[in-house]
Amino acid sequence: MEKSKKMLAILASPRKDGNVAKMLEIAVEKACETGNFETVNFVNLYEKNITWCKGCMGCKTQCSCVIEDDIKEIERLLKECDLVAIACPTYFANISAPLKNMFDRLVGVVFDDNDSFIPKPKLSKKQKYFILVTCSTPFPFDRIAGQSTGVVRAIREFFHVSGMRKAGAVIFAGTRNKSEIPRKIIGKINSIIEGC
Ligand SMILES: Cc1cc2nc3c(=O)[nH]c(=O)nc-3n(C[C@H](O)[C@H](O)[C@H](O)COP(=O)(O)O)c2cc1C
Repeated sequence: MEKSKKMLAILASPRKDGNVAKMLEIAVEKACETGNFETVNFVNLYEKNITWCKGCMGCKTQCSCVIEDDIKEIERLLKECDLVAIACPTYFANISAPLKNMFDRLVGVVFDDNDSFIPKPKLSKKQKYFILVTCSTPFPFDRIAGQSTGVVRAIREFFHVSGMRKAGAVIFAGTRNKSEIPRKIIGKINSIIEGC
């Protein structure tokens, strides 16, 4: 077993004790338990100082955002991790605003444009991403109406152009009045982490 892996756990929910935060905690605990990860870095996006992307495209020439704030820490952690777990609630069938802004601020870090408009990934195929999602719409309507799947699609879009590979996605649908993570969801999280 490899013990030198690094995990980056990103919470993109304002509710520190919410359902998706608990799902991320389960993933982190499992990663520690497997012994495969020597480091787990946790980032709460709602506690970071990351201003808006200003669309200047300066990142395309310097391969890093021109704005000096907490995005620099995330740039570094993302480049050096083997697995990134992103925990995000469904907000209007999409990702939360801080996560969207984080993706925008990382555009020059994750891919290059070229003349054919085909993105050239800058991250490694050996790196993996894991998506954790919550939504109040119950299954199967969360899928039929594109609610939780809107979150998965948005996260996948970012990582697809970066070159990273998907480890899996776990959706906890129908969260209204629920504060305990169902055993089935815990099992899915654990088995994906074991496979990383
Ligand atoms: C601003 C906002 C928008 C939301 N939009 C949706 C939505 O489009 N579809 C949905 O199923 N749930 C939506 N929800 C409900 C959340 O996704 C749901 O409560 C989820 O469990 C929140 O995750 P958390 O428990 O980790 O905070 C929304 C909640 C908020 C606050």
